[in-house]
Formats: sequence, C-alpha cells, structure tokens
Amino acid sequence: STQPTSAVINLDLPQRTVSRHLYGHFAEHLGRCIYGGFWVGEDSEIPNTRGIRQDVVDALKNLNIPNLRWPGGCFADEYHWRDGIGPREQRPKMVNTHWGNVVENNHFGTHEFMDLCDLLEAEPYIAGNVGSGTVREMSEWAEYLTRDGDSPMVELRRANGREEPWKVKFWGVGNENWGCGGNMRAEAYADLARQYSTYLRDQGDNKLYRIAGGPNVDDFHWTETLMKSVGCVSCNSMGVQSPYQAISLHYYTMTREWENKGKALGFSDDEYYRTMANSQHIDTLLTRHSTIMDHYDPCGTIGLVLDEWGTWWQVEEGTNPGFLYQQNTMRDALVASTHFDIFNKHSKRLVMANIAQTVNVLQAMILTDEESGALVLTPTYHVFEMNKGHHDQQAVDVEFKGARERLEAADKRFNVVTASATVSTEGDSALISLSNVSLDESRVVELDLRGRSWEVGEARILTSDSANDHNSPVVPDAVAPRDFAAGVSVVEGTAGSGVVLRVELPAHSFA
Ligand code: AHR
Repeated sequence: STQPTSAVINLDLPQRTVSRHLYGHFAEHLGRCIYGGFWVGEDSEIPNTRGIRQDVVDALKNLNIPNLRWPGGCFADEYHWRDGIGPREQRPKMVNTHWGNVVENNHFGTHEFMDLCDLLEAEPYIAGNVGSGTVREMSEWAEYLTRDGDSPMVELRRANGREEPWKVKFWGVGNENWGCGGNMRAEAYADLARQYSTYLRDQGDNKLYRIAGGPNVDDFHWTETLMKSVGCVSCNSMGVQSPYQAISLHYYTMTREWENKGKALGFSDDEYYRTMANSQHIDTLLTRHSTIMDHYDPCGTIGLVLDEWGTWWQVEEGTNPGFLYQQNTMRDALVASTHFDIFNKHSKRLVMANIAQTVNVLQAMILTDEESGALVLTPTYHVFEMNKGHHDQQAVDVEFKGARERLEAADKRFNVVTASATVSTEGDSALISLSNVSLDESRVVELDLRGRSWEVGEARILTSDSANDHNSPVVPDAVAPRDFAAGVSVVEGTAGSGVVLRVELPAHSFA
C-alpha cells in the first residue's frame, strides 16, 4: 500500500497575499455566454434585473467573484464599443466572425456590462481592440467610462443616461495579438502595446492597470520581447515608467493536441490522466514565464495575468461548433483545484487569473438549458465556492516531506496529491485545499500544522462515484460538496505548538 503523503505547513509564516483576482472570470460574446447566459433581456420570462438573469447573478455572488473580463477573447479585437451604446433598438448589428459567424445585435454593451459588474459587486476588466481598432477608439472608451467633469465622451455618456463615471482598473491592450488579435509578430505588437497604453489615460483618481497581450502557452520569445520593450524595471517603484503594468498569458488544458482535444464526457482512464498531466503543466509555464520576467524585473513590479485558462473539449454533439458549449465533470473540478494550488504557489508574480468562461462556454461555472432555461451549477463552480476562503488571505507554503508520489502521462510527470493553504490576516483561521487525482485509489495525507494548536472547524469534500459524473437539470447535485468531518482526524500525541491532521482523501477528490 502507498505510504501516507506527509507535509509541514507553517501556518505562522505567511509568505504573501493570494489576490482574490486569482479567482477571476471571463465572459465573451461567444455562443450562449452573454446572450442566453447573462443577458436575457428585460422582456424575458426568466426573472431578471434590467435584462440580466437574476439566478446567474445570485449564483456568482455566492462565489464572491472578484472581476469579470469582457467582451473577449477574440471578439474583443473586432468589437467597436460605440456600436454598443445608446437606445438598444438603434444599435448597429455586426457579424461575430470568430464565433459561429452569427449576427450580434449589440444589445449587451458598455452600460449593460457595467450594470452587470455592479450587480455582481465585481471589478470590470475591459479588453480593448488593438487588432481592428484604433488608438483613438480605445482612448475614448476609457474616457467615456472613467472621466468626470467635462469632455466630449463625458457628454456622450451623460446623454446615454449615466451621470457619474465608473471606476475601471483592469484594461487589456488587445487579446491574443499573436493570433486572432492581428497575427502580429512579438516585436510589432510590443510597439503597439506601448503606443495604445500611452493613450489609455488615467482620468482623475481612476488609475488604470494596463495589461499587455501576452504569450500563448510556451511562447517565451513573446514574453521576453515584451519585457525587453519595458526595459529593466528598477526595484525603486518611483523609477518605474512602464507603459503597461502587466502581461497576460493563455493556457488551456486538453487531452491531446489542439486538433484532438477530447470529449468532455465519456473519457477513458488514459484521457483522464493526460488531462491531469496537462493541467499541472501550468506550473512549468508559470515558472518559466516568471523566470524571464524576473530577469528584467527582479522585484516583481510587472504582473503576470493568466487571463484565459481552463479545459477545452470538443463541443457537445448537436451544438454549434462555434459556440464552444461543453459539459463539465469531476475531472474538470480537479483541473480547477490543481490549478488553484499552483496559482497559490506563484502568487507573487501571478496577480490575476480568469477562467474561460463563466457561463455556457468552455469550463463554465454555470450551464443554462436552452429550452427550459434551467440553471445548473457545474463541479467547477463548487471548487470556486470551496476555495473562496483563500481570497486575499496570506499564502503559507506546503512543504512535502520526502519524494512526492508522481505519475506520468502525455510525456509529463505530475503529482498525485496537491495542496495549498492560506491563513487569515489575523492568523487565527486557515483554509487548506487538498486534491487527490488518482482515478481509483484513496490517499492518506498527514499534515503537520505548526504555529499554534489548531482545531478543525469545517471539512468538505467534492467527489463522485466516477470522474465522468456531471450535473444536469435532472440530477443537479451529482457532484456537489458534502460534509467531510469523518475523513479528517487529529492525530493524538503530537506535542509542541501544532497538530497533525490525518486526511483520507478518496479517489478523484478535492477537499
Ligand atoms: O475562450 C475562447 C477563445 O480562446 C478566446 O476568444 C481566445 O482569446 C482564445 O483563443
């Protein structure tokens, strides 16, 4: 039998803050994410607030979602914000060329998005258009949103019914500009990022956090080019004159390569393990991109923003291939939980991460039934909910004793048990997250919790009979958190300042 996995957690040695923005979200004009997901319109029979679906808002508020990135994705680089303001019936239509070639009526625009963020109490993250827009267009959008006093854009905003400026911090300078956002070379984009960022003005006390469009997966040249373009950032923050404050990164988890992503349901054991290996590959990617950034910016002034991550499977049969609608199982939940353990470890350089996408697209929190309108919370939703206690808390390192148990798949080695922990700022409570990705075997984990004599407050577990299990309108709670008090015991007889917890993690589980 396998030896217990043992780790020491020094809960009295907080290392850094785990930003709540590592639990961020992303909503694109893609498939049924906005239309039919967030937005049903004021005349819908589905209960809504000014056209925004109320049960979606309630479910996301329960996650304390910290931010929402919008309007894309690839859509961002063909979106012209002026088409999405003013009386809805008069807004011009456009074709969404990236996603299904469908006609977009622009009924969900800037005011609707900002209203949604207000309802969610989440910070907006606007992704601007570099690929097919202009410097002026982006500059005026920031002015329209954030300027107080007087100006042509302020007058326009007021004419559309909004007197006060909104607060906007996060601003993306294009999206995937190496691909759908313009097919640019790193060197060409680096110059544009400087130019666009220059004209993204801080209006009054609204300070923008400009996020340059970063690399795909392992394009380290792209990261290096952007960092070189910033120049060496001195550790004296007074000396930082960077035109942008962060660089983004995109990484999706698939079973195999892009052309052979695999199915969301009915996957084999081999596909399951490939997914676990590819999921944990984010650790290598964050390490390597951070290492490049460290070279140019040793004090970590420029942030790394993983503004698209999650599973990407083949679409469900019978659905529009351009709508990226996929089911979500216990396997997806483990992709999320292991990503979060890795995010916690990288939380010095990694300042934000946004799962793709919140509703009805890719690794969604929420799926809505097209016909009945029924709302289902996915297994991934529950991971976000169970981890919300990490938001803005202090990371403490989990130090594993001895060699870690590792498996190999997809030419990568990965950990069977992963963990992360935070302690509250006051130091009087802690949250420990544990995952066992073994498909069919339980694992015993012994945690030596140091710093004070801790007591177990609450323990919950997310698991199911099969890693293929998912939730549906008929069985909404096939994968849902349960009480786990029975799985956690305090090992008696450990003297000194601390306790040892023994946790018996079932196969494919997150606790
Ligand atoms: O999230 C779906 C798409 O994936 C986004 O539009 C794009 O940025 C990425 O390629």
